[in-house]
Amino acid sequence: MYVESVEIRNFRNLRQLEICFNKRYNYFYGKNAQGKTNIIEAVSYLLSTKSHRETAVANLIHYDDTASVVMGQVIRKGVRDSVSFTLGEDKKVFYLNRQKVLPSVLVERFGVVFFDPEDLRLIKDGPDKRRRYIDQLISNIHPPYRKAYRQYHHLLKQRNALLKDPSVKEYGELFYIFDKQLAGLTKYIIQKRLRYLKEIQTVAQKIHEGITDEKERIGLKYQTNIIDEYEKIKDIEKIYLTLLKQNFVYDKERRTSLLGPHTDDILIEVNEKSARRFASQGQQKTVSISLKLSEVELYRIQKNVQPIVFLDDVMSELDEKRRRRLLSLLKEGQVFITATDKIDQSDIDKDEIALFEVIDGSVVQMDI
Ligand SMILES: Nc1ncnc2c1ncn2[C@@H]1O[C@H](COP(=O)(O)OP(=O)(O)O)[C@@H](O)[C@H]1O
Ligand SMILES: [Mg+2]
Repeated sequence: MYVESVEIRNFRNLRQLEICFNKRYNYFYGKNAQGKTNIIEAVSYLLSTKSHRETAVANLIHYDDTASVVMGQVIRKGVRDSVSFTLGEDKKVFYLNRQKVLPSVLVERFGVVFFDPEDLRLIKDGPDKRRRYIDQLISNIHPPYRKAYRQYHHLLKQRNALLKDPSVKEYGELFYIFDKQLAGLTKYIIQKRLRYLKEIQTVAQKIHEGITDEKERIGLKYQTNIIDEYEKIKDIEKIYLTLLKQNFVYDKERRTSLLGPHTDDILIEVNEKSARRFASQGQQKTVSISLKLSEVELYRIQKNVQPIVFLDDVMSELDEKRRRRLLSLLKEGQVFITATDKIDQSDIDKDEIALFEVIDGSVVQMDI
C-alpha cells in the first residue's frame, strides 16, 4: 500500500501543494516551523482521519481561510483509490472514490503507524502513554475494539459527572446501571489487551533480538488493580462490580473513578527487570522502537497489507547506529520521514527515495 500523490490546499501553512511520492521512502527536511510535520500530518489525516497532535478541525485550516481540501491517490493491493477530505467550520467530510464515506471506512481500509519523538518515551512516561500505545494498536487491527473503547469512555465520563454531583451521596441504582455496563466493557477491553499484548510480545521479542544481537529480551506484563491472577479473567465482571461498590467512598471523595482499564498499565521489562527503572535511556529508546515496529509488523500479519509508516522528527533523537537500524528494519512499505538535516548517509537505493526540502510551506524536490 502506498500514497502515489497528494494535493493540499490551505492545510495549516500549506497554501497549495502537489507532491508525487516515492513508493518507499519520502524524506522531508528543512528548518524548523517550515511545514514538514504539516505535510505528513495532511497525508496521515487522509488515511487515518485524525491528527496525532490536533483534535480541533479549525486549527488545521490556514489561518486566513475558512476551508481546506486534501486529495490523494492511494494504491492498495494493486487497486487505485482516490481519497479526499474537506475541512470547514468545525466539520470534516471524507470521500472515497468521490463518494462521501464515514471516517471509519477509511480507517479500516488504510493502515497508518505514526511515530513521533513522544513514542521514544513510551517506557519513561506515564501509564497513559502505554495505554494509548496498546489501544491504538488494537483499534487499528481490530475495529470493534475502538467502538467498545469509546463506549467505555463515554460511560466513564457520565459516571464521573455523577460522582461530582453533590446531591448524589450513596451508591444507588443509577451507579449500578452504569457499573454493570462498564463491567461488561471492562472484561472485553482487558481480554483484548491481554490477547494482543501476547502477540506484541512475540513479535517485539524477535525484532528486539535482532536489534540487540540477541542480548536483550523484552517482557510485557499487564497490570491491573481489578484482578491479581489472570485465571480470574472469566469472573472479572463480578469482581469489578463488587470492587466498584466497595470503592465508591473513595471515588466519591476524589470525585472520579479510580479503578478500571483507564488506570491500568503495562510493565515493560528488559531481561526480567523493569525497563523503566533499570534500562538506560538508549536502551529505553531501543525498546520503544522495537514496540513501534511491532505495531507495523502485527498490522501486516493480521491485515495482510503493509501499513504506511510516518516518522516525524524521530531520526534526530537517535544516534547514527539506531537511525540506520530503524531504517533497515522498515524493509517494506512506504515510509514518510521528517528531519531537520538532509539525509546524511544512506544505504538506500536512489530509486527508493524521494528527497524534499520544505521552505515556508512549499516543497522542492532535491537530488540525492
Ligand atoms: N492553521 C494554520 N494556519 C497557518 N499556519 C499554521 C497553522 N497551523 C500551524 N501553522 C504554522 O505551521 C508552522 C509549523 O509547521 P510544522 O509543520 O509543525 O513545522 P516543522 O517544519 O518544524 O515540522 C508554524 O510556522 C505555524 O505557525
Ligand atoms: Mg515538525
